Amino acid sequence: MKNIHLNIDHISMEFPTPDGPYVALRDVDLKMAQGEFVSLIGHSGCGKSTVLNVVAGLYQATRGGVVLDNKEVDEPGPERAVVFQNHSLLPWLTAYENVELAVKQVFGRARSSKTKNKAEMKEWIEYNLHLVHMDHAMHKRPDEISGGMKQRVGIARALAMEPKVLLMDEPFGALDALTRAHMQESLMEIHADLGNTVIMITHDVDEAVLLSDRIVMMTNGPAATIGEILKIDLPRPRDRVELSDNANYNHYRHEVLQFLYERQRRPGEEVVAEEASDDEAAPSLKVVKTEAA
Ligand SMILES: Nc1ncnc2c1ncn2[C@@H]1O[C@H](COP(=O)(O)OP(=O)(O)O)[C@@H](O)[C@H]1O
Ligand SMILES: [Mg+2]
Repeated sequence: MKNIHLNIDHISMEFPTPDGPYVALRDVDLKMAQGEFVSLIGHSGCGKSTVLNVVAGLYQATRGGVVLDNKEVDEPGPERAVVFQNHSLLPWLTAYENVELAVKQVFGRARSSKTKNKAEMKEWIEYNLHLVHMDHAMHKRPDEISGGMKQRVGIARALAMEPKVLLMDEPFGALDALTRAHMQESLMEIHADLGNTVIMITHDVDEAVLLSDRIVMMTNGPAATIGEILKIDLPRPRDRVELSDNANYNHYRHEVLQFLYERQRRPGEEVVAEEASDDEAAPSLKVVKTEAA
C-alpha cells in the first residue's frame, strides 16, 4: 500500500491476570488507506474489541503500536471517534446534550478551520440526530428511550465529531432488523459523503460483505491474530436487494462463513447446510452444538 493512513503495526497485547499474563493478541498487522472501510469479524472473545481499543488509544499495546497519519496513537483523541457496543451515553444528559458535548469538544474551541458558532452547532447537532432518525426524541434522556435508540444517539455523537477514523464495536447489534438495515444504508451514505476511514466489528456476515472494502477475519484466541483478509470487490453504491442474487456477493459471504465455521470452528460446534435451502448458489449454513461439547 503506497499511502498508509492508519497503520496497526504488529501489535501484541497481554493482559495481567491472577494466573499470569494472558496473551490476547499476537502480531496483529493491518495497513489501511484513507477512506477505507474494514470489518473485523471473528468468534466472541478472540480479541476484536481489544484491537479497536488499541486503535482508540484506550489500551496501549504490549508490543507494536498504531500510527495515524504518521503520528503515533498513545491516547484517545477526537479524530478517532468510537461507537461502543453499549452506547455509553451520559445518563443525566438528553440525547441532544450528549451529542452537544462531543460537538463542543471538536468545534467549540478556537481552532482555525473547524470552529462553529452557537447556531451552527445547534444545526449540526440536529442534523446528526436526524440522520439516525432521532428527531422526535432528541430531548429525552437515556432512561426514557429504548436500547436501540440509545445506540443511535451514540452513532450520531460519533458522526457529529467528523472523525478521520470511525471505530465501531458491533454498533447495530442491539437494533431490530429494519432499523439495522436503515442504519447500514445511512452509514454507507455517510461514508460515501465524508470519506472517513472506518473499522467496524460485526458478527453479521451479510453486514460485513455489504459495507466493507475488506473483511479482516481473526483467528480464535488466545494469541489471536489475523487469519485471512478478504477483499470485497463490489461496485458502490451497493444495493442489498440487487446483491442478494449477485454471484460474487454470495461467494464472499460463503468465504466468511467457511472461515468462521470450518477453519476457525470452535470445539463443540458443527456447521450443517440447512435443509430448507432451495437456493443452490448460496446454501445457508447453520451452527449446531454437537454432543461432544
Ligand atoms: N482488561 C482485560 N483484562 C484481562 N483480560 C482481558 C481484558 N480485556 C479483554 N480480555 C480478554 O482478552 C480476550 C479478547 O477480548 P475481546 O477483545 O473483548 O474479545 P472480542 O471483542 O473479540 O469478543 C478475551 O479472552 C478477554 O477475556
Ligand atoms: Mg467485543
